[in-house]
Amino acid sequence: MMAHRTPSSSPRVWSAADLANDPHMAKDKGQRIQRMFGAIAHRYDLNNRLHSLWRDQAWRRRSVQLCRVRSTDDVLDAACGTGDLAEAFAAAGPSSVCGVDFTEEMLEVARTKAARKRPAGVPQPTYRLADVMTLPFDDASFDIVSIAFGLRNVTDPRRTLAEFRRVLRPAGRVVILEFSQPANPVLRVLNGIYCEHVMPVTATLLAGDRSGAYRYLPRSVSTFADRETLAAMLAEAGFKDVSQFPLTFGVCTASLGHVAG
Ligand SMILES: C[S@@+](CC[C@H](N)C(=O)[O-])C[C@H]1O[C@@H](n2cnc3c(N)ncnc32)[C@H](O)[C@@H]1O
Repeated sequence: MMAHRTPSSSPRVWSAADLANDPHMAKDKGQRIQRMFGAIAHRYDLNNRLHSLWRDQAWRRRSVQLCRVRSTDDVLDAACGTGDLAEAFAAAGPSSVCGVDFTEEMLEVARTKAARKRPAGVPQPTYRLADVMTLPFDDASFDIVSIAFGLRNVTDPRRTLAEFRRVLRPAGRVVILEFSQPANPVLRVLNGIYCEHVMPVTATLLAGDRSGAYRYLPRSVSTFADRETLAAMLAEAGFKDVSQFPLTFGVCTASLGHVAG
């Protein structure tokens, strides 16, 4: 599905009835996701910082570190949103960083960040409006492909991983950052209360949101692939030596895969 905008008279994207079902099964999931991120783009970064208790940027930096970036690497950040992971990769000094997303409002924020002055050796990320399920790049165009909190939001995660494999060069790396469940049962319960009952209220208020984005968020996490399934999906897509790194007690996990050299 290419970047298209469905006019809607209602700002609501996810109703309580929609979320009683599995949101990943919604036939028009792609259009809903676009409308939802279009509605919250202006407060997306602030909500991320506040509701991760300022951990989200550390999670992104750790994902970058796992990829062992070289100065000759070309990096693709898929579903880049407002560009925070693309900027974290740029800070590691690769040859180039390209971000792709299908929500124009998110890319506008990313482009504003990219326009800031940067030290020598830190490339300016470039951004393209495109669907990550049909990437507008030739085979073997990148050394690293990343996706943070994005794979859960695409319509077809398996097809997306196959696209990542296609555009990666030999010895390439893929890193996926996604929410997960803490292993400790007490932390799991506390995290569940926070994600399902506190964050949806405070994040909705902060964004002035009527799309239902922050009610979709915990529902989309609980109905998405768990850590083990994600590792199996990476292996199915042809990635080798898959390893996973729980972050902040396992609230988040970075999954790393490799292309044979
Ligand atoms: C939760 S945001 C993540 C943004 C960013 N990666 C970050 O670390 O904050 C998810 C992003 O995925 C994008 N997205 C979802 N499905 C997509 C698709 N099929 N193609 C391109 N972008 C997509 C949305 O537009 C949104 O910007």
